Amino acid sequence: MRQQLPFGESVRRASELNRTRTVLALDLEDKDPSVLIKRCERLLREVGDQICAVKINRQLVLALGLTHGVDVIVDFAHSLSLPTIMDAKLNDVAHTNAAMTRAYLECGFDAIIASPVVGWEDGLDSVFELMNKAEKSIILLVHMSNPGSEDFYSLMVGDTKTPIFERFAELALLWKAHGVVVGATKPDVISRVREMIGDELQIYSPGVGFQGGDGKRAIQAGANYIIVGRSIYSSPDPGKSAREIRFMTTGER
Ligand code: XMP
Repeated sequence: MRQQLPFGESVRRASELNRTRTVLALDLEDKDPSVLIKRCERLLREVGDQICAVKINRQLVLALGLTHGVDVIVDFAHSLSLPTIMDAKLNDVAHTNAAMTRAYLECGFDAIIASPVVGWEDGLDSVFELMNKAEKSIILLVHMSNPGSEDFYSLMVGDTKTPIFERFAELALLWKAHGVVVGATKPDVISRVREMIGDELQIYSPGVGFQGGDGKRAIQAGANYIIVGRSIYSSPDPGKSAREIRFMTTGER
């Protein structure tokens, strides 16, 4: 496995080199694991120069396993100089979070997504400890993009009746996360989070295309990167769609 740069640096370099803000959500499905791995590699070959990172979800882990499965894809992404994010949405008590984090680290991931809902003590403390020690990055879920996310992430809490996502943005700063996830369907939330976190943390924004989010608006509102899945991999020509998304978000041909 080749040595990767620190995650933040690696995404920034790939973003500059490929003149893109697009993180690919690699959510392909196939009943046959060996076919699935081949399809993932083919897609990465097709769009690798249009993206700056690869995000993998738990359904790919369920389909392939980590060893001789997802680790093959992680290595392949690295061979294209693309860092990898595990969208684990970790949200359990410390010892099981730690076991999952260790497994994802062993698999070669450069960053992991966690949910702040479980809190610090005996919750995400173990994840931060392990990831910091391994010099890897944590991205915290601050506000999701689906319509139902309003039910929880915009809930008014505390004496001051502030939306709970603002508390999550504060925690991302306090815990020194690398970045946060805020849905592209909510440019006002992206602006508010950017105002709160300054330039220190990166904002990753999913929900572009299929869910109606506008990548350009998300970037203008303060997102650093957009996360795109179906609009690329479900396209009859993923390379062309990835180029169009790059053009729409950055103006780069
Ligand atoms: P699509 O196909 O909608 O995939 O481009 C989005 C990817 O991002 C992950 N993800 C989220 N998706 N809202 C989303 O719509 C969120 O808040 C969110 N957080 C992560 C999703 O799992 C898929 O891989």
